Amino acid sequence: LGAFVAPVEAQTYPTRSITMIVPFAAGGPTDVVARIVTSHMAQTLGQSIIIENVVGAGGTTATTRAARAANDGYTLITGHMGTHAASVPLYPKLAYHPEKDFEPIALLAGTPILILARKDFPPKDLKEFVTYVKANAEKVNAAHAGVGSVSHVSCELLHSILDIKPVGVPFNGTGPAMNALVAGQVDYMCDQIVNAVPQINAGTIKAYAIATPERNPSLPNVPTTAEAGLPKFQAQAWNAIFAPKGTSPAIVASLNAAAVKALDDETVRKRLLELGSVIPSPAERTPESLAALVKGEIAKWTPVLKPAT
Ligand code: MLT
Repeated sequence: LGAFVAPVEAQTYPTRSITMIVPFAAGGPTDVVARIVTSHMAQTLGQSIIIENVVGAGGTTATTRAARAANDGYTLITGHMGTHAASVPLYPKLAYHPEKDFEPIALLAGTPILILARKDFPPKDLKEFVTYVKANAEKVNAAHAGVGSVSHVSCELLHSILDIKPVGVPFNGTGPAMNALVAGQVDYMCDQIVNAVPQINAGTIKAYAIATPERNPSLPNVPTTAEAGLPKFQAQAWNAIFAPKGTSPAIVASLNAAAVKALDDETVRKRLLELGSVIPSPAERTPESLAALVKGEIAKWTPVLKPAT
């Protein structure tokens, strides 16, 4: 008979609210993606999911905290390409390992990278941008969300292609960095599309190019980096849910099912697509597929970022 009885925790979980740590400021891309998906997951799970923004050190402060949290399914983290891949080569003393210290739950969204600038930044297009930043590399600055964040490593890649080292201006997330860009306090940024679409549509910032092979339906007038003359710059980030290592398979399955259901919901999909996100295919939504993504991304970013440290 026992074989037909689900483990007690799977029958009862969750019995109280769940904390979702977001490792960057409220209003930024990770926060926005997490809020869209978890609001639907909370309905499925029958408990609220409380977002806690824990900022600092390019997302690694929050990720360390999540790695050390109880593995009971009540503390989760929405991590990303930075916290769960690029941080490995950039932080030699990283207090967690993305593969060893977490149970992957589900990939939530792919987030293409754009090269953005303050509205009155002189270059008109990407070709002019390249010429301008090369000629003024000591004067221009690039906003980012801390060492190891997506905005930081994306612009590191761009700078390595252009062979320049401009000054970086760190913020606690690209939410506040975007505010500074809109206010004209910083020059440019390599940011995830989710943060950029509302501002580009409002005309408060400039978008030079999107670093993906195809244009994005949410921004049909923004050229790809290949179209705009810089085909080597290709970058797409991702956001995903992780639980501390040792979280039971039953809880992992229950959280994954809730995330998958959210990604199938029409309202959730519409909101993610309006902001330019790429919704993972069913095959990309499994914990196994996320584990493979993390492994592949660490392998991809390590040689790119190691020499810079
Ligand atoms: C954020 O939510 O602020 C971003 O994901 C930060 C980044 O990694 O660039």
